[in-house]
Amino acid sequence: MRLFIAIRFSQETGSKLTGLRDEVRLHSQRGRFTTAENLHLTLVFLGECDERQTAAVRSVLDEVRFDPFPIIIDRVGRFQRNRRDIWWAGVGENEALQALQLDLTERLLRAGFSLEQRTYRPHITLGRDILTNFPPWTIQPLVDRVHTVELMKSEQVEGTLTYTPIYSKPGNAGQRGTKLQNNDSKDLSDS
Ligand code: 2AM
Repeated sequence: MRLFIAIRFSQETGSKLTGLRDEVRLHSQRGRFTTAENLHLTLVFLGECDERQTAAVRSVLDEVRFDPFPIIIDRVGRFQRNRRDIWWAGVGENEALQALQLDLTERLLRAGFSLEQRTYRPHITLGRDILTNFPPWTIQPLVDRVHTVELMKSEQVEGTLTYTPIYSKPGNAGQRGTKLQNNDSKDLSDS
């Protein structure tokens, strides 16, 4: 299974993000745009994981502690890739987010995962392979609150890229995560 750990947003923020995606689309000659249900903020990309590794990620999520925290999305920008860019909604400086991302990364490294050690640049991908002359812009800040972190599965379902939450870890001390989907895999962490 191809996995990543992510934050998903409230319906209200989701619809505003969809609006930003549509603005980028309006100004683009071409591009592949993120579907509304796939909009998310990645904390850690794990890649292909077997059952044992999936159970290990769940254990790491069970160990992590964080208080719910606010998050502010304040701009639309791009990563340049030979004219065909990735466009995203960017998150303003956020100590709680950076701390959570670092904590997860360090725990996963200690658990034996090999992760990309690039600087974390929190972004919500709005589209890929985008060709446009339009410049990045700042937006009326979107404010949301992070209550949970989710382990997400990425797969092609009938030709459509689909992200499905399979484990959900709420903030606040002392709580274990919730398994959301069986995935035909043995729940090693509970045995
Ligand atoms: P991106 O949108 O900037 O590509 C699922 O693919 C999520 O994991 C996306 O949010 C993606 O970020 C992120 N991700 C990070 N590193 C990745 C990698 N090496 N390959 C694919 N996705 C990656």
